[in-house]
Amino acid sequence: MQLIITHFINTYYYNYVSMQIDPNNSIGVFDSGVGGLTVVRSLIEQLPFENIIYFGDTARVPYGVKSVETINRYAMQITEFLLDQKVKLLIVACNTMSAVAYQNIKNLSPVMVLDVVDAGARSAVAATHNKCVGVIGTPTTINSNAYQKAIKSFDPDIRVFSQACPLFVPLVEEGWLDHQVTRLTAQEYLNDIIAQNIDTLVLGCTHYPLLKPLLQEIMGNKITLVDSAQAITEKAGELLKNNNLLNGQQKSPEYSFYVTDLPIRFTSIGERILGRSLSNINVVKW
Ligand code: DGL
Repeated sequence: MQLIITHFINTYYYNYVSMQIDPNNSIGVFDSGVGGLTVVRSLIEQLPFENIIYFGDTARVPYGVKSVETINRYAMQITEFLLDQKVKLLIVACNTMSAVAYQNIKNLSPVMVLDVVDAGARSAVAATHNKCVGVIGTPTTINSNAYQKAIKSFDPDIRVFSQACPLFVPLVEEGWLDHQVTRLTAQEYLNDIIAQNIDTLVLGCTHYPLLKPLLQEIMGNKITLVDSAQAITEKAGELLKNNNLLNGQQKSPEYSFYVTDLPIRFTSIGERILGRSLSNINVVKW
């Protein structure tokens, strides 16, 4: 493979050694389970000619209660798998992996990597008026302080209040999006954060947008809920365009899905999220 150029590639302005990449290659998107499909939904809407390969590590979800070392090991394994599929861009559609493994993923990847924490933090900074922002996420994401650091790097005056919500991921994977148990759990988790007078709440886990109607109801209509899917999709479009990597073939794209356990629940929840029937689901046996 011929190394062709070193150049500034995007709005982050870092040097990047780019391989000759085929613009028709897929975007690789990954998460521990179904949550990253909220990012895929946004990609399908905003970049309708892009091929997408999605990886959900359904056998090992949830990640957010596991150690940093374990999450890094899983993240490396998935990154290698997607790179073998010749993706042109990697999207870490998992806040937990973004928070604790982003640098290692980036070091391993010869293609560009985007992560949800950066995108979510930028959106929160743009959304808040009273400079009081809440962040909810998995225990690993919250303990990493990744959001706090990112938000404060953009605006040090913003006060950030965080709350880990470990039960949300299993509830979403179960499909209990509007269940009484989920509602009671959410009320319990959000009590303290409501008391902090925040005007913006970052959904710091890609599973959480699936609970958006419920969370909005509990938080009240005056609170802006930030879902990083939209922000990361805009960034992906910009990055591909700036690097002449947008798929120029204006034909129906291919979507393929890889999971690590039986795909029954992934398929039913995935179809709900994407609003279409899912075919091309493959099981990877690790
Ligand atoms: N969607 C992942 C995230 O954004 C969920 C992590 C987990 O598996 O606990 O953090």
